[in-house]
Amino acid sequence: MESNALEGKVALVTGGARGLGAAIARSLAAAGAQVVVTDVDEDAGRAVAAPLDGLFVRHDVTNEADWAEAVKRTLEAFGALDVVVNNAGIETAALMIDCELDDFRRVLSVNADGCFLGTKWAMRTMRPGGAAGRGGAVINLSSVAGLVGVVGLGAYCAAKGAVRLLTKSAAMESARLGYGVRVNSIHPAIIKTDMGVAVVNSLVDLGLAADADAAEALMQQMHPMGYGRPQDVAEAVRYLAAGSGRWVNGAELVLDGGLTAG
Ligand SMILES: NC(=O)c1ccc[n+]([C@@H]2O[C@H](COP(=O)([O-])OP(=O)(O)OC[C@H]3O[C@@H](n4cnc5c(N)ncnc54)[C@H](O)[C@@H]3O)[C@@H](O)[C@H]2O)c1
Repeated sequence: MESNALEGKVALVTGGARGLGAAIARSLAAAGAQVVVTDVDEDAGRAVAAPLDGLFVRHDVTNEADWAEAVKRTLEAFGALDVVVNNAGIETAALMIDCELDDFRRVLSVNADGCFLGTKWAMRTMRPGGAAGRGGAVINLSSVAGLVGVVGLGAYCAAKGAVRLLTKSAAMESARLGYGVRVNSIHPAIIKTDMGVAVVNSLVDLGLAADADAAEALMQQMHPMGYGRPQDVAEAVRYLAAGSGRWVNGAELVLDGGLTAG
């Protein structure tokens, strides 16, 4: 993809303070976009945004008033909004028989409610007549856990499955009603961010692996091409955000080295 594929575009990335979100923000900026990094972690979020000449907004994705404020500040700073990446997410590892309802709801809230609010505010703002009004792209971070069941990740699977079909419904509405906004989901397998490391470690806590070495071996065996890298996800986001993805809408882009292909 050309290095200026997103020149003149404005992109908002939630959960951009670390991990995949930080890599996505850097990659979009490298393709020419002006970036807005949002997160609940203010210090880390500012540290990502500053070298990109980006804007940081403190933003809890589960809070609709925060969404209104994040969009308002984006438009004030850059005068446009073209790309929203709903990346913020959390996981909790628990067997179904032990999972507390509060934990289940917390995971649904950040991953699914957050993605719903982000998709809603993005489409309202970017559709013709909206405050930005020139169409665009929404990219929602689901997971392979939104495609297949994973032992110990029931709440996370429920949330990421919701993200998958919310994305398709939004994509159809946008196409049918002429919003000019493409909405797609990305489904990575394990990438060793803080969250990825926690998922591997949880195998021991859940009694699914005897120790850390056994957990690592089990995970390596599951991933036929090894773990992903943040850059793998960032490049997929860039493709879906740019005009080269013009006809891609309602798609689920699986990034797992073949883990779910069999
Ligand atoms: N790392 C993986 O292996 C993997 C695999 C598949 C999907 N994903 C998904 O990719 C996304 C990014 O994952 P990651 O590995 O970078 O995670 P991470 O835990 O490293 O980073 C998540 C970021 O989201 C922020 N965040 C959490 N709750 C928030 C809230 N309510 N409002 C705003 N920000 C909030 C955190 O502060 C953090 O900066 C998530 O949606 C995750 O579910 C990750």
